[in-house]
Amino acid sequence: MRVLLVVAVCCLASTKAQTLPSFIHPCSASDPELNKCIQKAVAEAGPSFADGIPALGIATLDPVQLGTVLVNNPSLKITFTDTVVTGLRGFKVNSFKMSPEAGKATFDFTANVTLKAQYDMNGQVLILPIRGNGQAKIKITNLNILIKYDYETREGHWLVTGYKDSYKMDRAQFKFTNLFGGNKQLAETTNRFTNENWSIIMQEIAPPAITEIIRKCIDEVKKLFATIPAEQLLRP
Ligand SMILES: *[C@@H]1O[C@H](CO)[C@@H](O)[C@H](O)[C@H]1NC(C)=O
Ligand SMILES: *[C@@H]1O[C@H](CO)[C@@H](O)[C@H](O)[C@H]1NC(C)=O
Repeated sequence: MRVLLVVAVCCLASTKAQTLPSFIHPCSASDPELNKCIQKAVAEAGPSFADGIPALGIATLDPVQLGTVLVNNPSLKITFTDTVVTGLRGFKVNSFKMSPEAGKATFDFTANVTLKAQYDMNGQVLILPIRGNGQAKIKITNLNILIKYDYETREGHWLVTGYKDSYKMDRAQFKFTNLFGGNKQLAETTNRFTNENWSIIMQEIAPPAITEIIRKCIDEVKKLFATIPAEQLLRP
């Protein structure tokens, strides 16, 4: 009796786990305008996907928790802890190109995101010493992310076998509280410097932070591919 019950629970759970969420509107592989269809489907499903799908074990991407992010440059050390990024839910799809025969896809999207964390920073940017610990807020305008991934179909599911990413942005704005132990004048100079010369600072912060954002997105998409059969995501 107990065995039966376990079997029933297990199979119920796995059937449930394989149901395509209603907000995903799959395209057909034979659609002559496949990329256009996928682009639309991704744009429509994006916000709900970013909210997470607990039934499929898919975590939310807005907010997305990055934990500790380290900038470890000889001249500048920053430790961000409890790092949280918001805004991905509002992403806009620039393009989605898929070639099922080659097992390749390219996803290009833009989002306005805000990173918040506790920071501890010490070092120098250009000739300006910079030091402090407190709250950091970084607003990134039009963060444009390009992900090119390779995939294979194994046992009826897509499996991402590798990816390359690149990104750019229009602007970043910083707010660091408690710079120089609260010294107002030094803090003001530093805040003016970082906001006017944002790209110099972002060259240090972006690689560890944005690489991690992208990895989190890929991880959740991999879970979708692992739970929903490929032919439900792209109809034959
Ligand atoms: C980001 O915000 C700017 C205005 O601050 C807006 O012009 C732009 O369209 C936004 N980008 C996205 C992807 O929502
Ligand atoms: C930005 O950096 C330049 C050097 O590249 C410096 O001359 C300028 O003063 C900086 N801006 C601010 C507001 O500190």
